[in-house]
Amino acid sequence: MTRGLFILFEGCDRSGKTTQSTRLVQALDDSGIKAKLLKFPDRTTAIGKMIDGYLTQKSKLSDEAIHLLFSANRWEAMNQMRADLESGITLVVDRYAFSGVAFSAAKKLDFKWCKAPDVGLLAPDRVFFMDIHPDDAAKRDGYGEEIYEKREFQIEVRVKFFSMMDSSWSVVDANKDADEIHRQIMVLTKRAFKKQEEDQSSISSL
Ligand code: TYD
Repeated sequence: MTRGLFILFEGCDRSGKTTQSTRLVQALDDSGIKAKLLKFPDRTTAIGKMIDGYLTQKSKLSDEAIHLLFSANRWEAMNQMRADLESGITLVVDRYAFSGVAFSAAKKLDFKWCKAPDVGLLAPDRVFFMDIHPDDAAKRDGYGEEIYEKREFQIEVRVKFFSMMDSSWSVVDANKDADEIHRQIMVLTKRAFKKQEEDQSSISSL
């Protein structure tokens, strides 16, 4: 049984991650590859509901407490994620631990402290960073409704994302036309499947 791939979309707010991750899952399904879409935060769980209350500014939490809740929200999904990958399902994930670190480190929490609670979580095989300048993101529909959607903060978040990139990341120009972005992502995804076919690598950890 070949394991599924863990493909992750990261980016600043309103960068089109949700659109592109949904399209990728659809395209994989259409080509006979079993794929599942996951989104973090998962606002449906008990922890997720606390996170939602914070993001929509209905409740207050310290920077440290919300950081740990975001991480716990990933940990509660981990066993199912591993089982899915092992059973051959490819996971397309909209945000993950890198968002956790980028957003909290942008609030000036210590970078190492921010990374610590996610150590041991499953690591993605490929990361697509949807890159948009916060000035362009601000022009998109619905921007500014949630707590983090502020220009200066998003600029800082983008810098933190760039500081975490390694060779498993691809930067995608999120200003381009959605169809063109989708085509680029398909090329990169096919390449990732080919690499996995050759390497047969096991799932690694953060
Ligand atoms: P999300 O629901 O993905 O919002 P959007 O669709 O607008 O990108 O994420 C909500 C917010 O939570 C977003 O501003 C990023 C932030 N976030 C963190 O601060 N830490 C985390 O660990 C995650 C996953 C998200």
